[in-house]
Amino acid sequence: MIARMSVTVRAAAKINLRLAVGPPREDGFHPLLTVYQAISLYDDVTVSDADAWSVAVEPTGDLDCSGAPLDGSNIAVRAGRLLSTHHGVRRAAAIRIAKGIPVAGGLAGGSADAAAALVALDRLWDLNTTDEDLLRLAAELGSDVPFALIGGTARGTGRGEVVEQIDDPGTWWWVVVPNATGMSTPEVYREFDRLYPDLLSHHQLRVHDMPGILRTRDFRLLGRNLENDLQPAALSLRPDLEQTDLDLFEARAFRLLSGSGPTFLGLVETQERAHEVCEHMLDRGYRDIRVATGPVAGAHVVEYA
Ligand code: C5P
Repeated sequence: MIARMSVTVRAAAKINLRLAVGPPREDGFHPLLTVYQAISLYDDVTVSDADAWSVAVEPTGDLDCSGAPLDGSNIAVRAGRLLSTHHGVRRAAAIRIAKGIPVAGGLAGGSADAAAALVALDRLWDLNTTDEDLLRLAAELGSDVPFALIGGTARGTGRGEVVEQIDDPGTWWWVVVPNATGMSTPEVYREFDRLYPDLLSHHQLRVHDMPGILRTRDFRLLGRNLENDLQPAALSLRPDLEQTDLDLFEARAFRLLSGSGPTFLGLVETQERAHEVCEHMLDRGYRDIRVATGPVAGAHVVEYA
């Protein structure tokens, strides 16, 4: 066996093409029926053996990473500890995160880091964790972490942690419009509960038509069917985001709030149109806009060193 010095794993941002939310369960979580898609914004997580756990976060480009925790509360460190406890190994690692996914943006960047850390440490330490165990550990870390492992396009149920791949043969072009002020997911769910106190438990969670829509590869059909139940709650907390919605509308993109926000997404037909929309948004004073495609792969090794 060759001793490895470090392993780098890449994990992608996620968006929700549909996010249907039911009333809170007894444990406080909300039942979801969602369709996830992994898009081409990435965090690269590099792990190497160390005497104690540590984490460093560096931006890719001019991304603001100041919101990412640099202590044991970082979800990548929590992932590492969970994996070592699961296997009963007494080891620690230095974790470096090269961030390309906006922090607290509704793009599951933290979940991507957790998934990447699980896979990277599994390889660094030759643990051979089964896929089933990895998915279970991922679910313990957060509702979106199992999806970050599998990537592509998937249906999510439970609180989002039960994932099942969906065939998605198209290439979809997204304009990603982050916002400088991040949002807290629990706060958005609380606002959702405030707005919809009488939501019935048989609330129609609608995603059954998505596989058929995706198979057509028709961006207009997908665009008309994008739906996020958290959008009214997020916009109620942050009315300023209405303007982003409007600016993307003016640029003739289909619009969708990403997860619990504040990132907005514009769906367009081609890469060329995506760059046009990007220019339009830059002219309107937006910054750090990215063009991304989906679906892309889940957490995967990019380097052994
Ligand atoms: O699972 P995760 O740690 O990502 O969830 C963060 C928070 O988001 C939860 O503590 C909860 O307040 C809220 N949440 C929820 N229902 C879900 C997923 C998340 O209420 N299905």
